[in-house]
Amino acid sequence: MRIGVLISGRGSNLDALLKAKAAGRLAHAQFAVVLSNNPDAPGLRHARDADVPAIVVNHRETGRDRDAHDRRVLEVARNAGCEALVLAGYMRIVGEVLLEAFPGRILNIHPSLLPAFPGLNAPRQALDWGVKIAGCTVHLVDSGVDSGPIILQRPVPVLPDDTEDALAARILEQEHIAIVDALEAFTDGRLRVEERRVRILSESEGNDDA
Ligand code: GRF
Repeated sequence: MRIGVLISGRGSNLDALLKAKAAGRLAHAQFAVVLSNNPDAPGLRHARDADVPAIVVNHRETGRDRDAHDRRVLEVARNAGCEALVLAGYMRIVGEVLLEAFPGRILNIHPSLLPAFPGLNAPRQALDWGVKIAGCTVHLVDSGVDSGPIILQRPVPVLPDDTEDALAARILEQEHIAIVDALEAFTDGRLRVEERRVRILSESEGNDDA
């Protein structure tokens, strides 16, 4: 399955995906293109290092017109033959243009145990709320903010003296595991989505079904 990865910044989740692929995971995923809305995203170098086309679609060029930006993103994704998208630290809300082009085929990674703490600064929100368990979520994208069906989650304990940076760093380690596991199950054809509930079949179950 040809995958487009959308980023905005550092790109450590993208790096985790590319390294997993190089290590023999993600057998049914092919990274077709990496797209950044931010021309200065450091993560673009991970794509270049892995010989994956890295393309900038600068959202500032289309101003406040989200659909116009998404149409440009869609054109890049289509030209690369993408069959699904992964939002890996992509700091923009995806609108109907992309949702209709890739129905049930856009994955997002978020640094909280959704539905707690959607939106920006999730580790900060978790600390401020005083939760004892934080974590990360990989979910399918729908028209809401961080609201689509949950594929998988990984918990991270909040420590008594945690700072936002320390907690975010420990969550990020778990994101790198979660995003690979979720994309692998998705591209293997091992996800069964029933309304909000997503079942991940084991590799043997997935094969039986194929
Ligand atoms: C991650 O915490 C991701 O969940 C969030 O933004 C951060 C991006 O990190 N949405 P990176 O660019 O993948 O390093």
